[in-house]
Amino acid sequence: MRTSLENEPRTTLIAGVSPAMLAVTDTLVEQDERVALFFRTKEKLQELTAHSTWKKEAVLPLLASVTDGKAVVRAYEKLIEWSPRLDCLIYNVGFEPNDETQTFSGAELVRVMGLNFYGFVNCFSLALPMFKRVGRGHAVIICGAAALVLEGQHAAYAASRAALQIYLRALRRELANQTVSITELYIGRKPTVRGPRRLSQREIVEGILQALRSRPEKHVMGIS
Ligand SMILES: NC(=O)c1ccc[n+]([C@@H]2O[C@H](COP(=O)([O-])OP(=O)(O)OC[C@H]3O[C@@H](n4cnc5c(N)ncnc54)[C@H](OP(=O)(O)O)[C@@H]3O)[C@@H](O)[C@H]2O)c1
Repeated sequence: MRTSLENEPRTTLIAGVSPAMLAVTDTLVEQDERVALFFRTKEKLQELTAHSTWKKEAVLPLLASVTDGKAVVRAYEKLIEWSPRLDCLIYNVGFEPNDETQTFSGAELVRVMGLNFYGFVNCFSLALPMFKRVGRGHAVIICGAAALVLEGQHAAYAASRAALQIYLRALRRELANQTVSITELYIGRKPTVRGPRRLSQREIVEGILQALRSRPEKHVMGIS
């Protein structure tokens, strides 16, 4: 099985299609790799595919909200029909706190846990058997540098990021002999003489591509 897969292009699945992720997709496609994209809404999917010049054998847009387990399963079924192998999952869905973030409500906790934790679990649990078929795999989870210091963050956010971090730590231990790498990639701000600034899209894309190449456990871009 592995020998026939070796002749297939490397394939990456990206959940959370931001402009930076579209730039990552372009780079991977230029390297003759395949990329599948999970879109939350049909409108976004149609908007993007109407303007893209990607060949359909290189990029597969799929409709799947990561928090909807059944939709994720259906999207994976289409992915498997399209590509027999999956090498990498980039999880770029997430909620980050800001000044208007509510302090706490049950509904908020469900929403934030869904985006920051269960969404990744839904995607990874289906990616893992595909990684095993290839013999190795790589999951990259992108989040804000706020997650590095959970003390003082609002409750729902802190709980979701703490759950994810502990889950990833346990996964690494469980998968230690399976050549599956898990990278936590934290996006912070760049210090300048005028104070910290947001990273540019180019800096973010370069950081992601570097993490794809070097597969570190943790990659922090900028400061929190
Ligand atoms: N880019 C940065 O400068 C930066 C800085 C700090 C932290 N981060 C972290 O990096 C991650 C991505 O941030 P970003 O700025 O790239 O965010 P973004 O531009 O909002 O992109 C996230 C993407 O995820 C999609 N999405 C949201 N809910 C989804 C769901 N249930 N299922 C599938 N897709 C869903 C969004 O789609 P819709 O537009 O349709 O909702 C959006 O396309 C987050 O964890 C964020 O906190 C990024």
